[in-house]
Amino acid sequence: MNILVLGSGGREHAFAKKISESNKINKLFVAPGNAGTEQVATNLAVNPTDFEAVKSAVITHDINMVVVGPEAPLVAGVHDYFLADEILKNIPVIGPKKDGALLEGSKDFSKQFMEKYAIPTARYQSFTVETLEEGKNFLETLSPPFVLKADGLAAGKGVLIIEDLNEAKASLDDMLSNQKFGNASSKVVVEEFLDGIELSVFVLTDGKNYKVLPSAKDYKRIGEGDTGLNTGGMGAISPVPFANDAFLQKVEDRIIKPTVDGLQAEGIDYRGFVFIGLMNVGGDPYVIEYNVRMGDPETEVVLPRIQSDLVDLFEGVATQTLAEKSYDVTPQTAVTVMLVSGGYPEAYDKKKQIEGYEKVAESTVFHAGTTTIDGTVVTNGGRVMAITSFGDTIKEALGKSYRSIDKITFEKMNYRKDIGFDLT
Ligand code: AMP
Ligand code: GLY
Repeated sequence: MNILVLGSGGREHAFAKKISESNKINKLFVAPGNAGTEQVATNLAVNPTDFEAVKSAVITHDINMVVVGPEAPLVAGVHDYFLADEILKNIPVIGPKKDGALLEGSKDFSKQFMEKYAIPTARYQSFTVETLEEGKNFLETLSPPFVLKADGLAAGKGVLIIEDLNEAKASLDDMLSNQKFGNASSKVVVEEFLDGIELSVFVLTDGKNYKVLPSAKDYKRIGEGDTGLNTGGMGAISPVPFANDAFLQKVEDRIIKPTVDGLQAEGIDYRGFVFIGLMNVGGDPYVIEYNVRMGDPETEVVLPRIQSDLVDLFEGVATQTLAEKSYDVTPQTAVTVMLVSGGYPEAYDKKKQIEGYEKVAESTVFHAGTTTIDGTVVTNGGRVMAITSFGDTIKEALGKSYRSIDKITFEKMNYRKDIGFDLT
């Protein structure tokens, strides 16, 4: 079959590589892709949120399945667009429709959903500019730090964690009255701070049944020791050592089952990934957030551990036969370390030549922000490459990634040297 993957990051390179290994694949395309996806697929210069352009690519290349990487096309309704189109309606899309994508597209919706289905999460209330004063009063009932979340998508920047009560009130005002995050903060979720250690669990569902994919932990801050600005993710590890069977059983019973059942009860036919961001608070899992896609760079450690045919699982999603599919995971640990452009997550340069990555032998190089100019691979984003390795221990796997990184150079390359510091 011919498959089109939408997106251009390390996540999409990891998807493309895994899909290219399936014996069900005939032709594989990625739109728009990067210099890495080009090695395993054909890149198409198509913007994933330009649905007309996606449609014409699907027709031109006789695509039989579309796998959606990032959230933006899902929240914008790419799956609904396919279902409403006479030519496209029978082509499966891996990723939820707009109604399911609201789990990520609206924090207020996801909090209401969790409350309705008794899924453990932080206590909260939502406010608009009309209820600003009530919001300030609610802040007074909480203890610091205070957590303020823009309701809509805000490119990962919409969450503020603030120590001081007056500052929190001022920020709430700024978000609601001055639209600090544009329309995304016309509604704000104010919630209790959860004190614990974070991890993520990934679920693939056909709307009725599900498979729990490996857990992972990502390292979001730019600086070592989890300091400095938030990024899209500087590295990841799978599995998460503290997510033992007993903990994961709680996650499945208290969170995954009620989430899949809740979606069904809401009449939401959800076919795709659910990424559940969790806080382990004294051994009990609480949901921090849902995403309606895989994580990046978590995908670069989760997918390499899956030893089954991903396309077979996707077919199970498309035909609601996921329950009949089996799937295996290697017990080995996978780690990934992200190489980023100096300056990221603030301003950085692009078009810097990347050298040495072809010499990497003991790791897999997943391209993220890369492109090819006249046959030369250059940087094209803040996060440039994710270097994934396996080991019997986190330490062994990290040793491989860091040795591989020593072979790679580009101007102002930066990376965290302490991925996994809190787990080893
Ligand atoms: P989100 O965009 O919802 O993932 O939030 C960004 C980050 O803020 C999360 O990864 C957590 O580190 C942190 N965070 C969000 N909500 C809470 C909370 N209620 N308690 C503690 N930390 C939180
Ligand atoms: N690494 C976090 C995310 O993909 O949202």
